[in-house]
Amino acid sequence: MRRWFSIAFWCVSALLVAGLASGSPSALGGHDAVFTHDAVAADHAEASKAGAEILAAGGNAADAAAATMLALGVVNPASSGLGGGGFALYYCAKDGSLTFLDFRERAPRAATRTMFELEGERPDGPANSPSQLGGLAAGVPGEPAGIEALVTRFGKLSLREVIAPALRLAESGVTVSEALGAMGSAFEVQLRKDPVMVDWDLRPGATLRRPSLARVLRAFAEKGAAVIYGGVIGQEIVAAVQKHGGIMTLQDLRAYRVRTRRPLDTRAFGYRWVTAPPPSAGGFTMIQSLSILEQAAGREPTYGAPLLHAMAESWKGPFLDRERYFGDPDQVILPLDKMMDASRISARAELAGDGKAHPSTDYDFPIEWTRTQIATPDNAGTSHLCVVDAEGNVASVTTTVNLPFGARFTAGGIVMNDEMDDFASGIGKANAFGLVGGARNLPGPWKRPVSTMSPTIVLDDGKPVLCVGASGGSRIVTATQQVAMNVLFFGMNAAEAVAAPRIHHQGIPESLRVEKIAPLDSAFQDALRTRGHRIEPIRNVANVQAIQIEHSPERRLRAASDPRKGGAPAGH
Ligand code: DON
Repeated sequence: MRRWFSIAFWCVSALLVAGLASGSPSALGGHDAVFTHDAVAADHAEASKAGAEILAAGGNAADAAAATMLALGVVNPASSGLGGGGFALYYCAKDGSLTFLDFRERAPRAATRTMFELEGERPDGPANSPSQLGGLAAGVPGEPAGIEALVTRFGKLSLREVIAPALRLAESGVTVSEALGAMGSAFEVQLRKDPVMVDWDLRPGATLRRPSLARVLRAFAEKGAAVIYGGVIGQEIVAAVQKHGGIMTLQDLRAYRVRTRRPLDTRAFGYRWVTAPPPSAGGFTMIQSLSILEQAAGREPTYGAPLLHAMAESWKGPFLDRERYFGDPDQVILPLDKMMDASRISARAELAGDGKAHPSTDYDFPIEWTRTQIATPDNAGTSHLCVVDAEGNVASVTTTVNLPFGARFTAGGIVMNDEMDDFASGIGKANAFGLVGGARNLPGPWKRPVSTMSPTIVLDDGKPVLCVGASGGSRIVTATQQVAMNVLFFGMNAAEAVAAPRIHHQGIPESLRVEKIAPLDSAFQDALRTRGHRIEPIRNVANVQAIQIEHSPERRLRAASDPRKGGAPAGH
């Protein structure tokens, strides 16, 4: 039952999250631009402008990324905001270092493995299970701490300066986009029950003002994230979560910590790929897929049905690994090296390269790993953006409240996430993105749920050449990888690479998704059917933002926001 619901919801939400852009991406204009100095690519024009404003004011990529995240939370509360969390990958040009900040939400301390097993009566509207709607769905937000960490560790400006553009947008109001309007109408019945969201006019073209969020932004600017993790705002958050049946406490907020992690860093096809480590399974899926493709498709692959087939096959194994082995790296020891073992990759590559579509179970090569090792936890809707500044620093950030409008209630004026749905609600049960959960990803005290978010930076000869990432649940990683391959292997510029048709396969269900909004060549579709794939058209495969960095003959920043969600880049 849950499974059918999930798949049905997935189809509906794909329609919505797509932003229902009319026409095909190639027919839509204004979503890309070329800059020489600096660039921001977000999925909303006003958010890109907020980042560009901060760059013009002397901020660097970290400041601009934080300003863009804050603005996104104002202009599109369905996708991200202070009540959510995310990941940031930061390249520092001065020393060439790459740092990964994990500010993902985590479960309250009182969370248990079985907390979502029993389901009672469901309220009206879509995405209405206890892990998706209401107080239990909300993880402890990481976004405010993540923004503060980005600015204080890497930025040049004060938090107050970085918050200013978002505050101005919250006070003066912004025009409701098509993407937000579509999500607003789909979730209207639930939004109407919230005392803050009931007042929002979410028809496209209407003006959305956020006075209650402006109050939070002012407090954040004055007192820092501590006001949200324990001060007045924190108390309001806890009261609202508990009123909606949640178990979050002030101690959960006070104990929240951003984690600095070593990103996954690997060479494939002659490039250095740096991407999200666990608790994301996205980065792992991409690097394992690339390693498989190096063998299954050759070092210099050409675009066409054989490559599309090999790519679809290459994702089946990593998605199985995700179900079986992935969990919060602070609580579960992840056998990453064993999963990437050369003989295992070769075995998968052999299948992916034999020209036939295999059931995903063929790719199941269990590693010798039986015991789940629990380490003591330390005390401790989605949007992707890219920023490149004049010094050459790069920020690749993916931020989320999970499903549109998160858990669909506000706390202290903030839209709360429903990231708890990224846990397995039970072993073998699928979440809203059809991702089947395993034992290691059951909820637990202060545990972070497994994610697909894959903020990525690709380097060539030691210099960053591409910033890329996506929103779109399980499709984040497959979309990110395809756009990167379009730029790096097939000579497309960033705009062409983002607009090009994409495919998606996640092992379960056994179907190869193609886009309606950007249809894959019908000859390729026929060739894939001949190889045994069941083709399933869906509205779109994720929403990608990218900046391609050309160093010679002269510096060029080719920035692209995905026409599928209607964003536009900004810069100088
Ligand atoms: O962390 C994850 O993988 C999900 N919470 C992402 C959700 C998402 O991308 C929603 N859609 N745009």
